[in-house]
Amino acid sequence: MNAVAVNPSREEVMLLECPEPALSGPAQVRVRMREVGLCGTDREIAAFEYGTPPDGEDYLIIGHEGLGEVVEVGTAVESLRPGDLVVPMVRRPCRHEHCYACRAGRQDFCYTGEFTERGIKQAHGFLTETIVEEEAYLAPVPAELREVAVLTEPLTIAEKALAQIGLVQQRLPWACPVGDEVAACRCRAVVLGAGPIGILGAMALRQAGFEVFVYSRNPPDDPRAKLIESLGATYLFSEAVSLDKLAGRVGNIDVVYEATGAAQVSFQLMETLGVNGVFVLTGVPGRKGPVKIEAARIMRNLVLKNQVVLGTVNAGRVDFEAAIRDLGVFLGRWPHALRGLITGRHPISRYRELLQDKPRGIKNVIRLH
Ligand code: BGC
Repeated sequence: MNAVAVNPSREEVMLLECPEPALSGPAQVRVRMREVGLCGTDREIAAFEYGTPPDGEDYLIIGHEGLGEVVEVGTAVESLRPGDLVVPMVRRPCRHEHCYACRAGRQDFCYTGEFTERGIKQAHGFLTETIVEEEAYLAPVPAELREVAVLTEPLTIAEKALAQIGLVQQRLPWACPVGDEVAACRCRAVVLGAGPIGILGAMALRQAGFEVFVYSRNPPDDPRAKLIESLGATYLFSEAVSLDKLAGRVGNIDVVYEATGAAQVSFQLMETLGVNGVFVLTGVPGRKGPVKIEAARIMRNLVLKNQVVLGTVNAGRVDFEAAIRDLGVFLGRWPHALRGLITGRHPISRYRELLQDKPRGIKNVIRLH
């Protein structure tokens, strides 16, 4: 079968011919991959800036945004059957007894850093025809979500962020989002960036009851602006509204959801975070030089306005399940916008240009079967 892989030491991106994997344990499932989404992380791996092959191997099969169909199950598998659609999770736990997060099944909070990530860090990924995976790391997907379920993994980032925001803001029991009170929410969220992570974040925040503003450097005639407005969110073009005017335009900024990985603009935006606000960072910047920040102003605000800055990486099983549920809700509420996020479905033969040429559209997906 074919797989897209990188060899970092030889700086090669290639189509590999490799044997079909077979079940080797009773709790395993063989999955035929249907679609794999590509993101900035894949592009960085294909530029040899990120990504690590499994121990003892010189190549890494990439791809971590997968959707597949079960073709065979081990004798101990209870929840899945051939024909079921599944989304595989990305991160696998470390081996250390003292890592309470991994032992509790929350490897997204791993303490040791010795977790692996399929398609990213020391474990092969999903951009291949067939994978074998433990039942515990596969999230079932209803058949009616087939056309959009490849968006599950990027949506888990927003789901985990919203769960964290909810936990932090329990300190404000009169506000939101806390528990079921979000319907009455008047909170305002600014999303930084109009890529797939930003737009899915905007959908999740709208669904949670926030008034949402997406701040982006894409000009207002870009199709993303229309798509974002169709969610009932406000699109703000960065050249039309400077960052120092943003709070005047939005009001108290209760949440910022950063989805660019751009350090300079993120820290500038931090200066505008409102009273009792939460600033969520999701982007992973490449190793660049230092940036200038107004540290004293940011620090003063953090203290005098009770602000919280949190970073969030990867996601737990609960976040995958929440993302799958929410994709169903989004498909009912904003069918055109949700489908419109996937701007290209391509054969595997186009892997090189998709990974290495200038990115086009919003979300590009490789169709495998
Ligand atoms: C993936 C996460 C992963 C992170 C860091 C992101 O692109 O969505 O699952 O934890 O990269 O490797």
